[in-house]
Amino acid sequence: MSKDIITLAIETSCDETSVAVMKNGREILSNIISSQIDIHRKFGGVVPEVASRKHIENINIIIQEALDEANITFNDIDIVGVTQGPGLVGALLVGISSAKAIAYALNKPLVGVNHIEGHICANYIEYKDLKPPFICLVVSGGHTYLVYVKDYAEYELYGRTRDDAAGEAFDKVARALGLPYPGGPVIDKLSKEGNAAAIDFPRVYLEQDSYDFSFSGLKTAVLNYLNERRQKGEEIVVEDVAASFQQAVIEVLVDKSIRLAKEKATDKIAIAGGVAANEGLRSLMEKRGKEENIQILYPSKILCTDNAAMIGSAAYFNYMKGNISGLDLSVAPNLELV
Ligand code: KG4
Ligand code: ZN
Repeated sequence: MSKDIITLAIETSCDETSVAVMKNGREILSNIISSQIDIHRKFGGVVPEVASRKHIENINIIIQEALDEANITFNDIDIVGVTQGPGLVGALLVGISSAKAIAYALNKPLVGVNHIEGHICANYIEYKDLKPPFICLVVSGGHTYLVYVKDYAEYELYGRTRDDAAGEAFDKVARALGLPYPGGPVIDKLSKEGNAAAIDFPRVYLEQDSYDFSFSGLKTAVLNYLNERRQKGEEIVVEDVAASFQQAVIEVLVDKSIRLAKEKATDKIAIAGGVAANEGLRSLMEKRGKEENIQILYPSKILCTDNAAMIGSAAYFNYMKGNISGLDLSVAPNLELV
């Protein structure tokens, strides 16, 4: 048995300052997440300058907390993993600067991680036996990708959004309904009390063979519906709007994921990213998965939204493949998965 690899992982791409200690690719020793959501909620979304400043204030404290909770010291660390992108440039810089300083001081390898890859790897933490190949639907606040995970740290991209990300659509529709940020969890909750067939919002499939997504037309359809009702002074049943909108999003996500699984002859679909916490998406995936004999996987909710444990997992699998970064690693706000 080879020696365990202890990874210190840092995630500061958006509005969570998170530091984790991971043992190999799948075991969490600590995963501290300091969310700034309450601060940004006042502004209806993430304010980049505020996010950077809060990361700077928090990062050293969170690093120490992560070490303490894992019951280790800096000297026990084998590799340092950090989110390189995509994300907010100023926010990413805080994590990268800290990670570089630690890697340099300890003379240990630094591994720059793609945040989207991190989301995918959350599934390795949840499912200790999960091995590629499998399909992964990544649905976060900023990205929507349909991916074939060919091997560890090897991805083939089949589909992506052409406009809004899935989470972004949830957040924008929530805002139009006067609901607080982030909108996804609120719409998810309201949907359970609403009728998903009440309003026939469009399902956008694009070209027949396409695995791409488009959510801006759906968002506009919801806005038009709300405006029309308001102008006519007609009642708006928020629960029905939420449920009908959510249904229009998840039907397309599920249909395309199942179609790709069949095309690639894989019997596993994992979902990842903040929207993977959506209960409507999880249950429709499971229903369709059962019909098609496809196993559906998703991380527990705390591992769906941003966290450093998933970054530590991705850092480990990349390290094992020899993907190590230099100390000249720089932020990549628009980093692509492949
Ligand atoms: O992955 P994530 O934490 O951050 C990014 O990398 O973007 O995703 C955040 C997104 C937000 O748009 C939020 O509204 C959405 O995930 N989200 C949800 C749910 N929980 C979080 N969307 C739908 N249903 C949920 N339960
Ligand atoms: Zn994320």
